[in-house]
Amino acid sequence: MKLAIGNDHAAVEMKNEIMDYLKSKGIEVVNVGTDTAERFDYPVAAYRAAKLVASGEVDGGVLICGTGVGIGLAANKVRGIRCCICSDPYTAKLSKQHNNANMIAFGARVIGIETAKMIVDEWLGATFEGGRHAERVALITEIEQTQKLASRGE
Ligand code: RB5
Repeated sequence: MKLAIGNDHAAVEMKNEIMDYLKSKGIEVVNVGTDTAERFDYPVAAYRAAKLVASGEVDGGVLICGTGVGIGLAANKVRGIRCCICSDPYTAKLSKQHNNANMIAFGARVIGIETAKMIVDEWLGATFEGGRHAERVALITEIEQTQKLASRGE
């Protein structure tokens, strides 16, 4: 498995710890974030990682900024990305099972490293359930591609 990881200046330490954690599990990691404390605007890291995910060059992506919000919002602007912004392992698990989230984002100023590891584990360990959930994900894609929801008369 190969994952992209991206971060801004608020999350260098947590990015490094999560990167080491992923590598210790045998996962290949492509680091597209910053490695310094200098200002680094989170949409840049989000875009780089999201493009790798959307193109299929990597199997998924982990994003970390101060809150996880900005970097997750930016990633979700890239076609094909379903990035779950979360602070708890349960949401992370369900985001894969029900929403087929292909990226996960969280905040280095919000959660601690052990919760971050649990979030990553639950997201990676879960499987998309398909069925009715696939129909809903298809509706998300319809909105993304057409800016309409014609299939529902909207
Ligand atoms: C940077 O100060 C901070 O705004 C950023 O890391 C993130 O929290 C934005 O959503």
